[in-house]
Amino acid sequence: MKAFIEGLPKAELHLHIEGTFEPELMFEIARRNKISIPFNSVKEIEEAYQFDCLQDFLDIYYQGAGVLIHERDFYDLTYAYLEKCASQNVRHTEIMFDPQTHTERGVPFSTVINGIHKACEDAKTNLGVSSILIMSYLRHLSEDEAFKTLEQSLPFKDWITAVGLDSSEKGNPPSKFKNVFEASVKEGYIPLAHAGEEGNADYVWEALDILRIKRIDHGNNSLQDDSLVDEIVKREIALTVCPLSNRALQVVPNLKDHPLKKMMNYGMKVTVNSDDPAYFGGQVNQNYIEIQEALGLSKNDLYQLARNSFEYSLLSRESKDKHLAEVEAYYQKSISE
Ligand code: ADE
Ligand code: ZN
Repeated sequence: MKAFIEGLPKAELHLHIEGTFEPELMFEIARRNKISIPFNSVKEIEEAYQFDCLQDFLDIYYQGAGVLIHERDFYDLTYAYLEKCASQNVRHTEIMFDPQTHTERGVPFSTVINGIHKACEDAKTNLGVSSILIMSYLRHLSEDEAFKTLEQSLPFKDWITAVGLDSSEKGNPPSKFKNVFEASVKEGYIPLAHAGEEGNADYVWEALDILRIKRIDHGNNSLQDDSLVDEIVKREIALTVCPLSNRALQVVPNLKDHPLKKMMNYGMKVTVNSDDPAYFGGQVNQNYIEIQEALGLSKNDLYQLARNSFEYSLLSRESKDKHLAEVEAYYQKSISE
């Protein structure tokens, strides 16, 4: 199964670029920018990565992102992640970035996006990995702040496909961002949002009905409400599920209790993703490997998950079909051996 997963062509649809910041690179960039971080070794960093909840993690995550200053830093961070994609047969990735984490510290929007975009272009050419960018609004900040970010993004509109909503979920419902999502859609951005990670099913309803999102990031707590599950199935809204993240942030007590297979059985369109791989103990393949083991997923389940990752991506129909044909060929070859 491990070898099957490693060779399986796949896309990653839920990934925060700031969450790919591996300790070694964090030390290197902190050193060259002459910024001190409260850790002396990779071991100390790893020991600090024990989280009780989402907020516990976010506090450390924003601190880590604070060493990113120059375009080169954003380039190096992004390119290092895209190299990991190439090594895992991730053929396409949809990368979230949080401009406000950086603009709040005085780093210009252009610095952030130029570095990330250039890395994506180079990875397409050098590694054959394609990417799409999702600009995420931080939900612990105000809607006015999100509007400022939308404004700053407009000169770079051609490089950004979608908007997302992330950070502290509880107490920051999707409805808080109704107007900025409407304005974002008018500018041509596809609306996406985290919902139902720690927030209840009513937040997922709001994300669907008020923000009109096309894909749900996480969505675990949708299962609290049968009529919501029916609606998600009926509207064919995919879920970007992140098993190792859910375990690390105590959304599930352990992977054996993870609802992924239940979601699939209900007919929900599920994908497997890493969320913040540097913090949660594994890249996307490790997520597939551990959830397969915990839930006893079959090769056919894994094939379905990989198919979903392309089908529910933001790629063109033509690109989806090209990738799906590769998944199909890989699967057929594997089951005939
Ligand atoms: N930002 C980075 N990772 C996140 C997560 N899992 N939930 C909400 N915001 C995030
Ligand atoms: Zn996330």
